[in-house]
Amino acid sequence: MRHRTIIEPFRIKSVEPIRLSTESERTAALQAAHYNPFLLDSDQVIIDLLTDSGTSAMSVEQWAGVMVGDEAYAGSRSWKRMERAVHDLTGMAHVLPTHQGRAAERIIYGHLGGAGKVFISNTHFDTTRANIEFSGATALDIPIAVGRDPKAEHPFKGNMDTVALEQLLREHAGHIGAVILTVTNNTGGGQPVSLANAAEVSRLCRAHGVLFLLDCCRIAENAWFIKDREAGMEALSYREIAQRMFALADGAVMSAKKDAFANMGGFLALRDEALAAACTNLLIITEGFSTYGGLSGRDMEAIAIGLVEIFDPHYLEYRIRSTTFLGDHLHALGVPLMRPIGGHAVYVDAKALYPQIPVTEYPGQALVCELYQLAGIRCVEIGSVMFGTYGADGALVPAAMELVRLAIPRRVYTQSHIEYVAETFEEVLRRREATRGLRIVKEPRFLRHFSAHFAPA
Ligand code: F0G
Repeated sequence: MRHRTIIEPFRIKSVEPIRLSTESERTAALQAAHYNPFLLDSDQVIIDLLTDSGTSAMSVEQWAGVMVGDEAYAGSRSWKRMERAVHDLTGMAHVLPTHQGRAAERIIYGHLGGAGKVFISNTHFDTTRANIEFSGATALDIPIAVGRDPKAEHPFKGNMDTVALEQLLREHAGHIGAVILTVTNNTGGGQPVSLANAAEVSRLCRAHGVLFLLDCCRIAENAWFIKDREAGMEALSYREIAQRMFALADGAVMSAKKDAFANMGGFLALRDEALAAACTNLLIITEGFSTYGGLSGRDMEAIAIGLVEIFDPHYLEYRIRSTTFLGDHLHALGVPLMRPIGGHAVYVDAKALYPQIPVTEYPGQALVCELYQLAGIRCVEIGSVMFGTYGADGALVPAAMELVRLAIPRRVYTQSHIEYVAETFEEVLRRREATRGLRIVKEPRFLRHFSAHFAPA
């Protein structure tokens, strides 16, 4: 028999209680947190969809690995194991451990960047852009045109516009820091990149003598989409697909907090020895010695094991199908979404959901507050709270889209948790016209979404 039901391919051996709250408790908590869920305590939250980063449930094998972690300063056995796991997957000779993705970014982009340098990506993740811009360089995003349209259906909406890439490579010849392909494209909705697109990017980079890097923190999820959607890929394993993508690149940056099921960690993998040596110098100055780079031996064990487990076909099938399950459910209810559904998250189009709320009253933040109030669900606004700026006249310059991201932690929530989230949206829709926006009453100069205070408009 072929089942419709996709079961979680794991049993639960250890549980972490969720404290359930009442709606009136949540009203008080939200008010005390100034309508900013980043300011809530985690035990005030019932379902935490703030991020899929560092929030995975580790397996019994990983926890066993934690117990045998070798905490030696130099030459740790756990480092050898992590180095081998990264090498076997990426095929890259030089591996540098870092405490998380952005530490690897600071090292490589700090080294390659600087004033006058240009970096090109399908879409730079915010920490990637921040590290590039902090070095004085410029970060240019060139997703394919449909990638910018939330409603457009396309199998590989994360692809880079290779026509634009060729133009930029000519225009900025001699000044390119690197070309970076983010797989999957987080900021663009967790959308996948095809192997054909990666191959074309690689070809252009080689022709122009430019470094090609992968931001590979969700490369296993990306491989699922390639096997499912790209012609000629059915017979390959997910791991082989990822390896083909790595084979096209000169280096890779990974936050192991995503597709390595680790609560902390990352790495930089490179083919070029001289570049690796320069980066290792920077690693030792701020992260730690080259055999731990800011990680405990137990973290490195967990990463080595997670990098193998992530390619389990049953896990990946469950992972992508369960994210799609939530997306399809919300779509059927009539919730406006970014389509198609990506790998790690469902993105709700709050501007379309709440047409009565002007962008100056942050429709995304209104939905974030509504979901917490109704059900204790925590998620994040990706719109004008996060990316809005002020013009010379003091008026808000809004973001291109007003999205809310429901990110799904790996192996953490069951189908009933997800159904609870979907059910909450029925009430969100019933109260749709009565929902009001918010105004900002206090904000810091940078990264205001983390700590801004709001009040009902
Ligand atoms: N690259 C991508 C595509 C990411 O999604 C992230 C983190 C990073 C780099 C940085 O890695 O957090 O380990 O320093 N994304 C998290 C998120 C924060 O919620 O999407 P990090």
